[in-house]
Amino acid sequence: MTQDNKSPAEPAKESGGLLRRVFGRATHENSTPGVSSTSRVKSTLDLADIQGFILRGYRMPMVRHFLLSVGVPAQARKLLARFVNGDESDAPQITTAEDWHVGFEPGPGDNPSEAPRRKPDYCLNVGITWPGMLALEIQQRVPNISFKSFGAFTQGAAERAKLVGDTGPSAPQNWIDAFQKGGDHVIVTLHALSPDAMKTYSDRLVALFSEGNAFREIWRTDGMALMEMQNGTPVPTFKVHFGYTDGISTTTIHGGPEKYHPDHQQPCEPWLFVLQDAAENYFVPEPRELGLHGSFAVFKMIETDVVGFENFLQSQKDKIDPELLAAKICGRWRNGVPLALSPDTDSPAGGIASDQMNNYEYVNADGSGDPKGLRCPVGAHMRRINPRGQPVTGQGQPGGSNNTHRLIRRGMPYGPVYDPKQPYDGIPRGLLGYFINSSIENQYEFVLGHWVNDSEFAGSVRLNPKSKDPMIAAQDPAESIFVIPQANGVPPIKVTGFSSFVTTKAAAYCFLPSITAIKFIAQLG
Ligand code: HEM
Repeated sequence: MTQDNKSPAEPAKESGGLLRRVFGRATHENSTPGVSSTSRVKSTLDLADIQGFILRGYRMPMVRHFLLSVGVPAQARKLLARFVNGDESDAPQITTAEDWHVGFEPGPGDNPSEAPRRKPDYCLNVGITWPGMLALEIQQRVPNISFKSFGAFTQGAAERAKLVGDTGPSAPQNWIDAFQKGGDHVIVTLHALSPDAMKTYSDRLVALFSEGNAFREIWRTDGMALMEMQNGTPVPTFKVHFGYTDGISTTTIHGGPEKYHPDHQQPCEPWLFVLQDAAENYFVPEPRELGLHGSFAVFKMIETDVVGFENFLQSQKDKIDPELLAAKICGRWRNGVPLALSPDTDSPAGGIASDQMNNYEYVNADGSGDPKGLRCPVGAHMRRINPRGQPVTGQGQPGGSNNTHRLIRRGMPYGPVYDPKQPYDGIPRGLLGYFINSSIENQYEFVLGHWVNDSEFAGSVRLNPKSKDPMIAAQDPAESIFVIPQANGVPPIKVTGFSSFVTTKAAAYCFLPSITAIKFIAQLG
């Protein structure tokens, strides 16, 4: 799920430097006054008006999400204004998509001799649900408000749950209480570089929420990069709980501020992630001060059944090697090496350079590649969720792009690293964070509805009618099936009888307002 922790390199080769660059404080600590870092970024996007986590992964090792209910609406609006008043001494400030004025260590595209940049200690962002917009009395005070292209947002995650496979144990009635009762109004997301910074800014926020009864905190949860010992020191990794390396496939945006090496996929139009007039499939919400430069996102907390997953891999070992099965389920070996580049081993001779780990296509324009899924099964998680050049429902050309259905992932693991020596420790673990897009209907819901939870999506490739994404779809063991095609006329391997390996614990459809929009909300009095 996550691309917050971006671009894992080959760990053995460059983990120290990479992890320092990704999570740590940069080596250039001083900023040069008067030198604007944005002057180096040519962008059609108004970066200073757009919330930062829409366009950039912060690469911070910890996150806290506060779920708030509006207490006194006028006080709540006033507090939102303080988050964007530019006065850090008054309140922590919402992080925009502008390059760090003091910011990242130089990436490969940067000129290291330019203004040194330092990463801040924290990043702050805000999402508002439709019930939150009502509780803030925005609709009441803005008669011409219209979210007419965004019916999913106004209906909310619980109402739409069936469309994305959140049924059975993942159904809304089984979600964490705070997400069930309509009091889930605002999510404040705090990323931090260190436990000290997390405590400092968390304490400040909590004090602010209660000032004048602006907000009531109804739930909170923490995410943290999974740690691993290296030379006796715990260092954050890019792993997720099933043991896979994550954060390799990213979503590059034309004119976006990300600087790290491109991930070799076709860049997306900005309007797919930031509400703009150029959009082809929606109208920017009215009034424009509220809608323009905002975005939509699905906050999600997904529990992973690691012991169920590991046991299942072992239970199939007479049919297929457990590590190969894990790779076929995902589309990458657990160390991140893609099946598309290395179908038989996770350690190909000569290795794969970190900037090449995402440089592949499933089907090329001339139909070549891996159209039948002999390397990476068509039904694997990654190939379903982003079929790239493969013709599927919603994307008809070999070698074309399904960019209109892409997502930006900003998530992080929660719960401790799984210890195989204590498999039944009873501690919940999973992933939590945001899937960001301009159209929840056409991106998040489309992908989960048509590609993850359906078997008909793959055009000329006929999948078993009962098959769904083996990693994240809702599965019924009585009919679940994952088919792994084999070369040279060998019959495919069929694994069956598995349950869902993930359970949705919470979801909320959120609007991510621009800085202008937050000021607009605040001046409503
Ligand atoms: C606990 C649940 C999940 C786990 C463990 C998981 C794991 C992974 C892993 C290991 C990757 C490959 C890493 C990479 O290429 O960067 C990946 C890719 C991806 N996942 Fe998930 N995922 C989960 C849920 C989801 C959900 C619910 C969605 C969508 C709503 C999703 C969307 C994606 C996307 C878009 C990619 C990138 C595919 C590409 O660009 O090729 N994931 N996921």
